[in-house]
Amino acid sequence: MVSSALPYANGYMHMGHLVEYIQTDIWARFQKQRGHLCTFVCAADAHGTPIMIKARQENISPEELVTRVAAEQHEDLKAFGVAFDNFHTTHSEENRQLTCRMFEALRDAGHIYTKTIEQAFDEQEKMFLPDRFVKGTCPRCRTEDQYGDACENCGATYTPNDLIDPVSVLSETKPVWKESEHYFFRLGAFEQRLRDWMKSAELHQNITSKLEEWFEAGLQDWDISRDAPYFGFKIPGTEDKYFYVWLDAPVGYLASFLHYCNQHEELDFDEYWMPGHDTEAYHFIGKDIVYFHTLFWPAVLEGSGFRTPTSVFAHGFLTVNGKKMSKSRGTFIKARTFANNLDPSCLRYYYAAKLGPGMDDIDLNFDDFVARVNSDLVGKLVNIASRCAGFISKGFAGELAVELDDPDLFAEFAAASDEIAAHFERREFSKAIRTVMSLADKANRYIDDKKPWVMVKNADQAADVQAVCTQGLNMFRALMVYLMPVIPALAEKSRELFGEQAWTWSSASTPLLGQKISRFKPLLSRVESEQVEKMIEQSRAPETAPVTVPDSGEITIDDFTKVDLRVARIEKAEPVEGADKLLQLTLDLGGESRIVFAGIKAAYSTEELEGRLVVAVANLKPRKMRFGTSQGMVLAAGPGGEDIFLLSADSGAKPGMRIK
Ligand code: 2FM
Ligand code: ZN
Repeated sequence: MVSSALPYANGYMHMGHLVEYIQTDIWARFQKQRGHLCTFVCAADAHGTPIMIKARQENISPEELVTRVAAEQHEDLKAFGVAFDNFHTTHSEENRQLTCRMFEALRDAGHIYTKTIEQAFDEQEKMFLPDRFVKGTCPRCRTEDQYGDACENCGATYTPNDLIDPVSVLSETKPVWKESEHYFFRLGAFEQRLRDWMKSAELHQNITSKLEEWFEAGLQDWDISRDAPYFGFKIPGTEDKYFYVWLDAPVGYLASFLHYCNQHEELDFDEYWMPGHDTEAYHFIGKDIVYFHTLFWPAVLEGSGFRTPTSVFAHGFLTVNGKKMSKSRGTFIKARTFANNLDPSCLRYYYAAKLGPGMDDIDLNFDDFVARVNSDLVGKLVNIASRCAGFISKGFAGELAVELDDPDLFAEFAAASDEIAAHFERREFSKAIRTVMSLADKANRYIDDKKPWVMVKNADQAADVQAVCTQGLNMFRALMVYLMPVIPALAEKSRELFGEQAWTWSSASTPLLGQKISRFKPLLSRVESEQVEKMIEQSRAPETAPVTVPDSGEITIDDFTKVDLRVARIEKAEPVEGADKLLQLTLDLGGESRIVFAGIKAAYSTEELEGRLVVAVANLKPRKMRFGTSQGMVLAAGPGGEDIFLLSADSGAKPGMRIK
């Protein structure tokens, strides 16, 4: 069983995510191609506060949000050839049952205890706040607007309680500190077992050195519960406690696998997840979640009587053009945007050419990307076939020769099989690609030497063209078999060219002779830098772009929620010298005073306005006007002139209140 980390079901797939899904997909395809029974699973990571809040903002249920986002993410991944055997969700019955079963086993074995802790609480929203839902000033370097867990400026880590002037991200009110009982998992008790597992899992050096650091620092027990309201699974035996999303998320690997086993008789869940069987389970993850997967997860499995993963493989982050992905630079690119502009096979190839087994970050440099795809995939690889196939179709009725022109040369291609397989097996994809490409160079040199385009014109050589091109095509075929895990879509088209039903790894070792091939169709065209530029342009900071109202006149809920509407009290209303229609209003927005110019002079006298409550747009960019700067806008109804109506009557609303 092979898994990729479960994507949170509240966002879109981007180029960073794709590193992992493509890496795992290549490895899973490789295992299958080698003849192993390999099941590649994933699922939507459905639970947690951010998903609950996002659904609230969209006025839909979290279930609806998760279903929609997960379907979009899955579609995007399919466009990149990522072929899960099963894509399930952590909000599933399988996951509920497995999570509860593990929890109960841990509890019964004495690995769980309860403790009362203090946590930030938003009194307006009536909920406890996760660390990232509290913002304030860093206690160390005094940078404002930092999350409650760490400072982005100085790197300090702390709790929300340490922040200066903390505010709730949800209501912008000051949180209070409130007590609540939580469930803790005794991670500390698992140190020795984790050390043993670390050795047996043959983790990469990058991971073991991290683990050593953590062991050194001492393992902290883990808070696995959250208070209501929370989107997740209720803890058995409680009314208002839920499992923390990070407890049930990795269980989602098993839930997805179980769901698949239930539909596939040849697979037995217990053979994979109960101890003592000859099966293997591997997790691919990013370096940011190593702690969860190499400490909590194996300990939870071990403590609840399940088997531990055979190994965990962690990759690094993606940079684009040498820098962190950025919306303003247009390098925060959605998977969808990439697929709309460029062939996903190119990205799979490029990532593979960069990937190794460790946690080093990889860089997607677009100049290098264009150069590499054009020179390797188009110029070297596909070129071998396009230089040979036409002669076979035209001169030999599409039939391959019954013998190769240079069997020794082909034998070199076949002999590379073990080396390339070993690279793939160890996740040394860049080495696998290098070996394949040096063989592609060899194939091209062979064709350059033979010059079939000259041979056809030469009466005594024309008959040999068939053997030469059969040689070229068979070298191409072997390389495509080797690259099938990396560029499956191109490999499939190539397989169709040869009229074959299926390829396995060993197909590369035997040449295809005397068979009829189909007419060659171009497999891939050159990438132009304009395509990349267009894609970057389309990715540039769309979230700050002006709201474009479609023809239907509709705006999305996202557009609407950008408008920060507040109740305001008009403290002062004054005429503006030289302006017939305008009044200068001084608004009280709940302790904050703003000057706003409003064209309501014909409808209201200054006396009628003072003390009155109005609806104001609080986040309108200040506008310089002839008479001064307007710091917001007051909403009113009516066509204008004297017919302008502010909302009347004091409704109990207070200045500063947010309107939803
Ligand atoms: O970090 C993340 O994006 C998590 N959604 C990964 C979860 S992986 C597994 F544990 F479920
Ligand atoms: Zn700081």
